[in-house]
Amino acid sequence: MAEEGKKRIFSGIAPSGIIHIGNYLGAIKQFTELQLEYQAFFCVVDQHAITVPQEPEKLYQNTLSVAALYLACGIDPSVASIFIQSHIPAHTELAWILNTITPVGELERMTQFKDKIQHQTKEAGVLAGLLNYPILMAADILLYDAHLVPVGEDQTQHIELTRMLAGRFNNRYGETFVTPEPLLQEHAARIMSLLDPTKKMSKSAESAKSYISLLDSPDDIRQKIKNAVTDSGNEVAYDKQKRPAISNLITIHRALTDAGFNTIEEQYKGRGYADFKQDLAEIIIHELTPIQQRYREFMENKKELEHILREGARNASIVSEKKLLAVKQKMGFYI
Ligand code: AMP
Ligand code: TRP
Repeated sequence: MAEEGKKRIFSGIAPSGIIHIGNYLGAIKQFTELQLEYQAFFCVVDQHAITVPQEPEKLYQNTLSVAALYLACGIDPSVASIFIQSHIPAHTELAWILNTITPVGELERMTQFKDKIQHQTKEAGVLAGLLNYPILMAADILLYDAHLVPVGEDQTQHIELTRMLAGRFNNRYGETFVTPEPLLQEHAARIMSLLDPTKKMSKSAESAKSYISLLDSPDDIRQKIKNAVTDSGNEVAYDKQKRPAISNLITIHRALTDAGFNTIEEQYKGRGYADFKQDLAEIIIHELTPIQQRYREFMENKKELEHILREGARNASIVSEKKLLAVKQKMGFYI
């Protein structure tokens, strides 16, 4: 288990489909550095995934797959805890409690909720779970006294709600929760779709051509980058407003190579989009090949994966049960 006395971080990824390079660059990539500095909890948030209908077999596979990807991307189970949300009942229990201090209006104005209800079927209606989802996320974070939450930009509104709930609870019942801060990757907090640079890259996108999955084959990656939309002109120069499509590709390049925007622009001066795209595809392949190799090893060795997840859940339950007990005592529950 990670060292005691360090500040904590918490983050989660829903096992609701593929994991794309937006998830990787916006969130996962920073986990590997942070785990050295903080006591880290990385959760496979399966109870978040079911806020939109999931096929049971896929949910099962995707849950293991996200856990294996965490490990393949470099999370080290000897310093960080990787666990499955539904293994720790304290998450839903605290979520219920936080439900009782959250006005519905605060949930209805969440941008992600407003986006997602567009995709819900008429027959199913708007599901209460989808509305309440940010409360479960707040419970995830608050149970661990996480100071920092490394996430992509789309989650900042949810963390703002988490902060509000922490403050409200602390005011009403006395100091109980740490108020967390989001931690964004400065230049990769919002990777856009390869087909439409006005939309974020998303696992629920209709076309697989709009994202690069961490598990895409080299040929698929070459094809997708080749087909990625570009702007008019042919100049490899970063300008988010005027050239959003090439700027998104430059952002991906930059996040993977750590080269500055100027260096990249210099390098491709007079060479055009095609050259740049060819190189970018190879850079992505170079990054993902070892991840895919390790991913396959973990998926083939389920026993080890299982062991890591049980260990992670054990660490998580020690921290979270203590916090939940404190919450219940403060509220006057008969324990
Ligand atoms: P999700 O796919 O919604 O489970 O997101 C997992 C993590 O990836 C969260 O921290 C998100 O904020 C982050 N994320 C999702 N999409 C993007 C994107 N297009 N660019 C950057 N980060 C993203
Ligand atoms: N809501 C996040 C997303 O869609 C996933 C998530 C759930 C999460 N609980 C969390 C992220 C706690 C950070 C911390 O991406």
